[in-house]
Amino acid sequence: MSTAPSLAGGVSVTPRHVAIIMDGNGRWAKKRLLPRAAGHKAGVEAVRRVTRHARAIGIEALTIYAFSSENWRRPEEEIGDLMGLLRLFIRSDLAELVRENVRLQVIGDFRRLPADVVSLIDDAVARCAGNTGPILAIALNYGAQSELARAARRLAERLPPEQIDEAAIEAELETRNLPPLDLLIRTSGEHRLSNFLLWQAAYAELLFVDTLWPDFGAADLDAAVAAFGSRQRRFGGL
Ligand code: IPE
Ligand code: IPE
Ligand code: MG
Repeated sequence: MSTAPSLAGGVSVTPRHVAIIMDGNGRWAKKRLLPRAAGHKAGVEAVRRVTRHARAIGIEALTIYAFSSENWRRPEEEIGDLMGLLRLFIRSDLAELVRENVRLQVIGDFRRLPADVVSLIDDAVARCAGNTGPILAIALNYGAQSELARAARRLAERLPPEQIDEAAIEAELETRNLPPLDLLIRTSGEHRLSNFLLWQAAYAELLFVDTLWPDFGAADLDAAVAAFGSRQRRFGGL
C-alpha cells in the first residue's frame, strides 16, 4: 500500500502518516473582508476535501491540528465559533466516516472542551470503533509539550529511571498506534511547529506551503506527496 510504481520507473512513495497544521483561516477571511469565522467555516470544507483525498490516495493515517492547547488565548467568541464548527462537522460527517471505515481518534486533552462536544466526540469515536480502515486523528486541545510531560509523569510512576527510554516514551504518546510520521505539512507560510507533534516529527519531512488552509485541496495534497517522494531520507545514515 505504501509504494506504487512511478512513470519514471523509480518508486513513488506515498507517505503512510501525514500530519497537517491547518493554518491561515483568519488571513483567508481577512483577504475577503469577511469575519474570521467565515475562514474557519471554509477551513472545514478543506478538511472534508483533504481527508477524502487522503483516503483516496492510500494515506494510512492523517493527523490534523484543529485546536492547540494555546488557542484558548483567542477571544471567547472565536473559540465559541470553532467549537460550533466542530459540533457541526461531527454531526454532518460522522456517517461518512463510519461508512468509509475510518478509524477516528482524537489526540490532545479534549476532555477540557465543552461537555456536549466531549460527548459528541466520545460517541463519534465509539461509532467508528469497529472500523479497520485509514486513521483520522484530530488534535484538539493538543500540545506536544504537555503530551510529553504527561508521558513522563506516567512512566515515572511505573518504571525505575533506567527503564525510561525512547521506546517507553513512544508507547505513552497518543500517537502510539499510528505509523511513524512521514510528512508534516504547514499551510499559510508560517515556518514553525506551534507545539505540534514535537517528538513524532524527529525524522518527518517538513513541508511549508504558502497556500492558506481554506484554499488547500486535493491537488495541493498531491503536490505535497510528490514533494515527499522527491526527498531523500537518510535517518542519520548515508
Ligand atoms: C487556523 O487558522 C485555525 C486554527 C488555529 C484553529 P488561524 O485561525 O490560525 O488563521 P490565521 O493564522 O489567523 O490566518
Ligand atoms: C497552530 O496554528 C494551531 C492550529 C492550526 C490548530 P496557530 O495559528 O494557533 O499558530 P501560531 O499562533 O501562529 O503559532
Ligand atoms: Mg494561525
